[in-house]
Amino acid sequence: MSTKTPWWIRVPVLFFLIFGLMEYFVDSGDKPAIIEYPITQFFMLLVLMILIAIELILSSIENIMFQTLSEEGKERYLATKNKKMEWTWVNNLMKRLTRTKSIEREEEIIMDHNYDGIRELDNVLPPWWVYLFYATIVFSVVYLVRFHVIGEYTQAEEYEQEVAAAKIEIEEYKKTAKDLVDASTVELLTDAADLSAGEKIFNSSCVVCHMADGGGGIGPNLTDEYWILGGGIKNVFNTISEGGRDGKGMVAWKQSFKPAEIAQVSSYVISLGGTTPANPKAPEGDIWVDPNAPEPAQATPDTQPAEQVSDSTDVVME
Ligand code: HEC
Repeated sequence: MSTKTPWWIRVPVLFFLIFGLMEYFVDSGDKPAIIEYPITQFFMLLVLMILIAIELILSSIENIMFQTLSEEGKERYLATKNKKMEWTWVNNLMKRLTRTKSIEREEEIIMDHNYDGIRELDNVLPPWWVYLFYATIVFSVVYLVRFHVIGEYTQAEEYEQEVAAAKIEIEEYKKTAKDLVDASTVELLTDAADLSAGEKIFNSSCVVCHMADGGGGIGPNLTDEYWILGGGIKNVFNTISEGGRDGKGMVAWKQSFKPAEIAQVSSYVISLGGTTPANPKAPEGDIWVDPNAPEPAQATPDTQPAEQVSDSTDVVME
């Protein structure tokens, strides 16, 4: 009776059980262990081979034992083996969960009324249904105590928790999917790594027209507060990915760079703001004021120096 289930169920079930356990216990970050550590593929192959080997050994042992049986024994063995294939345990379970009477024994439970030939059986409630009902009673008691007596948490709190958890997940997702940004969602990057990546792109693709220090040449000065196409990370991102006005020479860079890279170089361009280039080109465009800037936070510390700066630029301009 050791071989109740056929091998073609036993081997895959054991295989995927071991596979699942391995994935559970091997810490491999976001990726499944089977991809992260190729050695595990070898391990699973080994497991599969061992499982098949065990099956082969078992079946040959069975074969040898079978040969030692007498003719009568062989017949009896084959009879029980074929019966085993009928999933006796499934049948037993079904019987226990339904407790139906076989048609031959229906006489035992037939009720004695008879309406125009329509008669009724007095079947017991199916045990699967009764167990389910008991389960709901247990559930309701636990639920009642948890949420109406102890008051573990309210629906509103549960909602808040879920939203907070989802926000964290979105942040995590954004970290791995940086290329999702576009001109409307891009945020100024301040990480040193992002800025130096942006600087690399700037040095390789942009200096010919904007100069290494952003002072400007064919293209406008990127360090002053005057912008032809609008300042701030979102406008700059849009200019770099879509290009400048027709015929001015600033092409759309979205074919050359991924959105994440455009965000990096945009942030680098913004970080050039306020620096003093060697040969600054005269301002072009208008002073750009961020319409979303938090006013009081910026106004207070900036008042004094800002006036001095604008005084001096006035002098220069005149
Ligand atoms: C072929 C020369 C050229 C190259 C290369 C070039 N630009 Fe430009 N850039 C220009 C010109 C010209 C303008 C002005 C466009 C206009 O007037 O519409 C400009 C405008 C800009 C602006 C907007 C400035 C404003 O005042 O609104 C930004 C930002 C900018 N470029 C960034 C870059 C970046 C980043 C790169 C490299 C990926 C780059 N540019 C490469 C010529 C260039």
